[in-house]
Amino acid sequence: MTKKYLTLALMSLFVLLTASAQKRGDVNGDHAVDVADVNEVINIMLGKSQSDPATTGRTLIAYYSYTGNVQAIVDELTTMIDADVVEVQPAEEGLQYEANNYAIGSALISAIRENPDDPASYPAIKPTRIDYGQYDNIIVAAPLWWSQMAALMQTFLFENGPQLAGKNIALIVSSSSSGISSVVADAKRLVPSGNFVGEALWVNDRNRANTPSLLTDWTATLPFITPNTMTNKLYLTIDGGTQLTATLADNVSVDALVAALLQSPITYQAEDYGGFEKVGALGQSFTTCDTPTTTQPGDIMLYQGNNLVIFYGTNNWSYSPIGKIEGLTVDELKTALKANQGKISITLSIN
Ligand SMILES: Cc1cc2nc3c(=O)[nH]c(=O)nc-3n(C[C@H](O)[C@H](O)[C@H](O)COP(=O)(O)O)c2cc1C
Repeated sequence: MTKKYLTLALMSLFVLLTASAQKRGDVNGDHAVDVADVNEVINIMLGKSQSDPATTGRTLIAYYSYTGNVQAIVDELTTMIDADVVEVQPAEEGLQYEANNYAIGSALISAIRENPDDPASYPAIKPTRIDYGQYDNIIVAAPLWWSQMAALMQTFLFENGPQLAGKNIALIVSSSSSGISSVVADAKRLVPSGNFVGEALWVNDRNRANTPSLLTDWTATLPFITPNTMTNKLYLTIDGGTQLTATLADNVSVDALVAALLQSPITYQAEDYGGFEKVGALGQSFTTCDTPTTTQPGDIMLYQGNNLVIFYGTNNWSYSPIGKIEGLTVDELKTALKANQGKISITLSIN
């Protein structure tokens, strides 16, 4: 097959697979199309090696959270990447690990420290039903307790270590202030045959407010996060100043735009039109998936494949949805977009 026809075939396959792929599910969900297939097609299109095991496969996030900090990190992470999620839960509910000067939490950690090879040292957790064959990549997210990995998460890794052998494993640790090197050591002790990738991400009380940008930077270092697994935010910088954040839609136009933005940000000029939008040519064309739409303020649409429209009012037309600017009132949106004040420069980026 010539290169031209191979490219056409791949692009057709990409469109078909991407259009029907389910991008996120729970661990018990059915997937009509394996996202790994879509990953592989994109990797070929991007010139990556098809056989590189680190860049393919599904991702599972396994986490434990007692007071909600790790839960919040995982919630944010799942807005950025496609992954299934499993929560580790104690078999015995309602225990207060911090009561009496952390008596229970401290005793649990001590028991594991003293006899790390004895199953009886590990506090019981509720059973998890995970088909590990589906996953090549596991993100483990855990709190730190007394400088070690929280006991319940240690139980999960102790019980599932053999199934995690050979998987790519990345680690997120949340503490108040203590350093996480012993938690990393716990993970490596409990999953000795895991393929630990990248630096563990350490979220603590000093940097917790920056969790979204910490996760954006961290996921960018993980070799198994491929472009189409990122359901990133889109950032719009207006005239080099104000930065707006939009949540991206999930379609082939967004995949094409994200693939371009991974190469470099796009700056374009946009003008007012019709008293309801700023529109401008992007300088390149993207795959369309036009549908008749009544737009709302904040909507970002691809028009004719090569124009980006940002709405501060409403209109009825056929567009390819790109995303939505969140969290601004209409007046705030109009101010940020300099509505009805003529030409502005907009830089689009995804990190
Ligand atoms: C039993 C226990 C022991 C802890 N020990 C430490 C510690 O040694 N150092 C520290 O910085 N934080 C410690 N913490 C605080 C947690 O690591 C921190 O609040 C973490 O963000 C909690 O995550 P979670 O809200 O998902 O449970 C401890 C918390 C508990 C419950």
